[in-house]
Amino acid sequence: MNILSIWKKGVAVIKGLKETDIDRDPVKQFQKWLQDAQNARCHLPEAIALATATPEGRPTARMMLLKGADERGFVFYTNYESRKADQLASNPFAAIICYWGELERQVRIEGRVEKISEDESTAYFQSRPRGSQIGAWASEQSSIIEGREDLEQRFRKYEKQFSKGTIPLPPFWGGYRLIPDRIEFWQGRTNRLHDRLCYLRDNGQWKVVRFSP
Ligand SMILES: Cc1cc2nc3c(=O)[nH]c(=O)nc-3n(C[C@H](O)[C@H](O)[C@H](O)COP(=O)(O)O)c2cc1C
Repeated sequence: MNILSIWKKGVAVIKGLKETDIDRDPVKQFQKWLQDAQNARCHLPEAIALATATPEGRPTARMMLLKGADERGFVFYTNYESRKADQLASNPFAAIICYWGELERQVRIEGRVEKISEDESTAYFQSRPRGSQIGAWASEQSSIIEGREDLEQRFRKYEKQFSKGTIPLPPFWGGYRLIPDRIEFWQGRTNRLHDRLCYLRDNGQWKVVRFSP
């Protein structure tokens, strides 16, 4: 039985999120919930909101796609000269939100962000469709452009330049990894008595606390 059918019968709400049921490792718990969202055919289960902030503490947020989640952290890819990248360069802390509405679930992840290795970015870039690779070369992400035609012209230019063979990783493009020190799992329940179990990293160890909804 997949989670959607469980959900339809209302069992997921009744079952909730118990301290005794969760994995001791928050990343394993996250992987389980992501898998549940994929099984339940949630729309874009890997979609996340990524919040960064200026050095003065002014927050900004945008949607991104999560491309990796393991014991090393949570990986996303972007332009290293974008607005978010500027902010991360001066303030390396960020927050990620995952929301799977069909399952009434939210995960909040917070921590420090680092660039991943060039090898790792290259491997991912090479796995992308050719059009997306050219698009990455063409887009000076977050900079002001005259109009759409500028962007399309740049696309055509790189299409011509990279008409044959492997397209190299743009030097201004790659991945970041958020290394979590706090991960909260939120499960919607009836009467707003939601479950909130939060893993906090304390001296290299994870401890779990429950917050009032
Ligand atoms: C569902 C969704 C997924 C997205 N995924 C990415 C992504 O993985 N990487 C990326 O750079 N932008 C992605 N974007 C675009 C960003 O939201 C944003 O427009 C872009 O990264 C520029 O943000 P910035 O100016 O704050 O740096 C996505 C947008 C949506 C709606």
